[in-house]
Amino acid sequence: MISLRTFYSDKKNLHSLVLLHAFPLSSIMYDRAAAVIAEHAPSYNIILADFPGFGSAASETSWTISGTMVELHSKLEEQDVRDPVIAGLSMGGYAALAYYRLYQNEVKALILSNTKAAADDEKGKKGREEFAVDVEARGAQAVFDRMLEKLISDASKKVNPELISRLKKWIESATPSAIATALRALALRDDSTDLLPVISCPSLLITGEDDAIIPFEEMEKMSVEIKGAKFVSFTKAGHLTALEDPVKWGSIVSSFLNVL
Ligand code: MLT
Repeated sequence: MISLRTFYSDKKNLHSLVLLHAFPLSSIMYDRAAAVIAEHAPSYNIILADFPGFGSAASETSWTISGTMVELHSKLEEQDVRDPVIAGLSMGGYAALAYYRLYQNEVKALILSNTKAAADDEKGKKGREEFAVDVEARGAQAVFDRMLEKLISDASKKVNPELISRLKKWIESATPSAIATALRALALRDDSTDLLPVISCPSLLITGEDDAIIPFEEMEKMSVEIKGAKFVSFTKAGHLTALEDPVKWGSIVSSFLNVL
């Protein structure tokens, strides 16, 4: 079951921002960016979500991206959160698009970061299953070998050498079976390409020019397909822009929120 953590709230606020994290991390990846947003866009409550088996969320033997978005919607309703701004980075972006497909009349705006609309092709699905089996056998080391270096740009590694050890710690904090289950959820996600031309809420797209997991061109293409999308690309940042430059990511998101 997806789990929610209120990062910032003020009783006066009418609007909320929901942040959906990347694989295989947790909502902790947003802590610094969320602090910037709380300071610069204080009229938005900030809710951080953890996918099953990550952060504060209990594991499940299987889950789907769209299923977790149904859970998110009902948890938001329970908390009386109406018309949220939904933001997601990478896996979080796949989920934000799934949320939009389900509840488009209730989404105030979308923020999509370092993500794409296409589903996995057959080769991609096979690769996910091989990765899942490898994680089940070798634990977090399989993630380190297969993707750790690709998560942030070389420039970020130089400027922020401690980022890699933070990432390792976060990745190790999920169980191998939670990571494998998430890989299977990623492989089964729906294709959202058809959705892009019908997105009618304000949208902000953020990526890093040196994203080694989802090429810059994917997001550039998305920014053309979504009507009126605002597109920002960070030079020298890679896949985890919100973590590599939380001040810039948080400031851009705040400026977008403040004019909605
Ligand atoms: C992520 O950062 O969430 C993942 O790399 C996404 C993916 O593997 O498709």
